[in-house]
Parts: sequence; C-alpha cells; structure tokens
Amino acid sequence: MPLKALPAPRDTFARPMRDLRISVMDRCNFRCPYCMPRETYHEQYRFLGSHERLSFDEIVRLARLFVQLGVRKLRLTGGEPLLRANLPDLVGDLTTIAGVEDVALTTNGVLLARYASELKAAGLKRVTVSLDSLDAGVFARMSGGFGGVDEVLAGIEQARRAELTPVKINAVVQRGVNDHTVLELVERFRGTGVIVRFIEYMDVGNRNQWRSELVVPSKELAERIGQRWPLAALEPGYRGEVARRYAFTDGAGEVGFISSVSQPFCGDCSRARLSSDGALYTCLFATHGTSLRDALRGGASDDALLELIRGVWLQRADRYSELRASRHAAPHEQRKVEMFYIGG
Ligand code: GTP
Ligand code: 5AD
Ligand code: SF4
Ligand code: SF4
Repeated sequence: MPLKALPAPRDTFARPMRDLRISVMDRCNFRCPYCMPRETYHEQYRFLGSHERLSFDEIVRLARLFVQLGVRKLRLTGGEPLLRANLPDLVGDLTTIAGVEDVALTTNGVLLARYASELKAAGLKRVTVSLDSLDAGVFARMSGGFGGVDEVLAGIEQARRAELTPVKINAVVQRGVNDHTVLELVERFRGTGVIVRFIEYMDVGNRNQWRSELVVPSKELAERIGQRWPLAALEPGYRGEVARRYAFTDGAGEVGFISSVSQPFCGDCSRARLSSDGALYTCLFATHGTSLRDALRGGASDDALLELIRGVWLQRADRYSELRASRHAAPHEQRKVEMFYIGG
C-alpha cells in the first residue's frame, strides 16, 4: 500500500498534526532582547547562507507532504519573513496546494506597508504583526533600537486596506518593561477590527535571561483591562487555539491572551515547525530537530519523506510548558532551539 493512503499520524498523546509554521528567514531587522539580544546577534554573527536555507521549491514540496499528513494551516515566520526576497512568489505557490485552508504570516511589520497588497494578490489570507508598545521609548527598548512605531502602524494600516484580515497584533509583555503601556495598546485598537493579543514572556531559547518575575500572568492583565472595559470570555475559535479570547461587552471587538507560562496549552498542540534550513521541530522548546533538507537533497522520494515526517510525529511526546508549570521551573537545562530560528 502506498504511504499516502496511511492515516494521518497522531503523536503519543493522540494529537494530530494540523499546523505547519515555516520559518523562511533566520535573519531579522530587529534585535528584541527577549529573542535576539544584540550582544549575541552582532555584525559578525554567522546566519545561514542562502544555499543553506530551503529554496521555495523545497518548501513547497515539503508543504505538500505535510498537507498529506493532515496539515491544514500554514504560517510563514522568521526571523523576519519579509526579508526573504520574492516572498509573495512562495505565498502564491503555497496557497494553491489543495487542502490548505489558511495561509498566514507573522511579521514585525516594518516592511509590511511595502508588501501588503502584493501578498494579498498572491493569496495570503491574513497577517499577525508584533507590536509590544505604542510608546516610542519602550518600543525602542523592546526592538533593540530598530524600527519605529510609525512604520509598524503604517504596515498594520496597509494590511487592513489590503484586507489581510483579521489583522492580529502580538505583544509580548514583560513586567517593568512594557506592562504599563498595555491599556494604551488596547485603547488604540478597540473598535478597529484589529485583534490585540498579549503573550506571556516565555523562556524560549537560551539567551534571553528569562526570569519568572518578568512574566505578567494573563489573569492579571485581563483583570486590569476588564476594569476599564468589561470583558466576557469567548469560546475558542477552533480546537487547539493558542489565544484565550475575550469580547468587550460594549461590542468594540475582542482581545486575546497567550498564556503559555501560567496556563499551558500543550494538550491540544498540533503545531509542527520547519526551520529555515529545513529541520523539523515538534515543539517551540525542542532541543533537537530532524533535518528534512538532508533527506531532500540526498534524493529522497516523496514516500520516503512522508515516512520520515510521519515517524517523527508518531514519536512526539513534547509538552514542555506543562512540565515547566508542574515543576515551577524550566524543565530542562539542555540547549533549546532559538525562537528566531523556528519562528515562534
Ligand atoms: P492564529 O492562527 O491567528 O490563532 O495564531 P497563532 O496563535 O497560532 O499564531 P501566532 O504566530 O500569532 O502565535 C502567537 C505566539 O504564541 C507565537 O509567536 C508564540 O509566541 C506563541 N505560541 C504559538 N504557538 C505556540 C506553541 O505551540 N507553544 C507555545 N509555548 N507558544 C506558542
Ligand atoms: N516570549 C514570548 N513571545 C516571544 N516572541 C519572541 N520571543 C518571545 C518570548 N521570549 C514573540 C514575538 C512575536 C512572536 C513571533 O513571538 O514578539 O510576536
Ligand atoms: Fe525579530 Fe520577531 Fe525576534 Fe523581534 S521577536 S528579534 S522581531 S524575530
Ligand atoms: Fe506545543 Fe511545545 Fe508549546 Fe507545548 S510547549 S504548546 S508542546 S510547542
């Protein structure tokens, strides 16, 4: 029987593989200290060479195989994905794969105004823009001194005009850094259709010197926001949704919280991640990946690749955030993959 006819794999906790997050570029034009601190990612840092990154043809071929194994949603990430030349061409190819229901992009927004309409024309459905604060000083501190609030706001506006909707905003919250600017962010986008989501600061990677005191639990934020604008919990939009959603009771839209630290959501985690050099990771906090690029460039057939990917998923037992929560500490001291390399 050909492998294609085999049932979609379930991992050791019976979780299917539904989402594929594809990092198309390991470089970034920001140096957010919580992701790519400047001290490490300086001028001499050796990023991947272009021949080391998967080509568009390789990405599309792998994406097709992932879709055969159950993936329905693709998200392009980085680093900063808009630094990858001709990205709309890739979007165009990915959106034509039969079975793909959603193609989204996560970006820091600086180049978005330039590319929004082209991305829409290529078939992109929606974008998520990272924006940690509207305060220029706080923004600069959190982006490592690169980019500006106005550029990001212009990107968001162009994305809305191009109907890359719903436009979502991801804001990482760190205590004592930007938590005092949260209400301003909510106020700015309430009633605009743009959905703001606050992310608890996570201990991803090895270099951001994460400390639990810097995490602002979503519950605390929701209370603060709710005191100003009453909130009502919404049902998840789909099984395994990462953000917990709340509606403003006055009808001005919704706000979301991604609470990987205080309320881990590993139970329904159906996300696979492909790094820009073609390694498959089954958790944001993984310590190793499986190179699909080596197999691909070694001449593997589609069936062999399907078998490789399927085998990795069948063995998957990741639940890092749940383990962290149950031990009240980082569960392993082994080197974790860096977030910019697999796109968050
Ligand atoms: P929608 O498709 O719009 O619901 O977005 P999403 O929440 O799947 O994707 P997005 O890239 O916007 O995710 C937001 C952020 O949540 C990521 O950048 C990560 O910081 C975090 N996140 C997403 N998936 C996971 C996950 O599997 N585990 C953990 N711990 N955090 C995640
Ligand atoms: N904790 C939480 N979110 C993070 N991101 C990057 N690093 C971290 C971290 N340590 C977020 C970015 C972006 C998304 C890709 O992941 O701000 O919104
Ligand atoms: Fe770049 Fe996003 Fe990492 Fe910031 S969080 S350095 S914008 S990849
Ligand atoms: Fe999924 Fe790993 Fe995040 Fe848990 S910690 S939700 S298993 S990516």
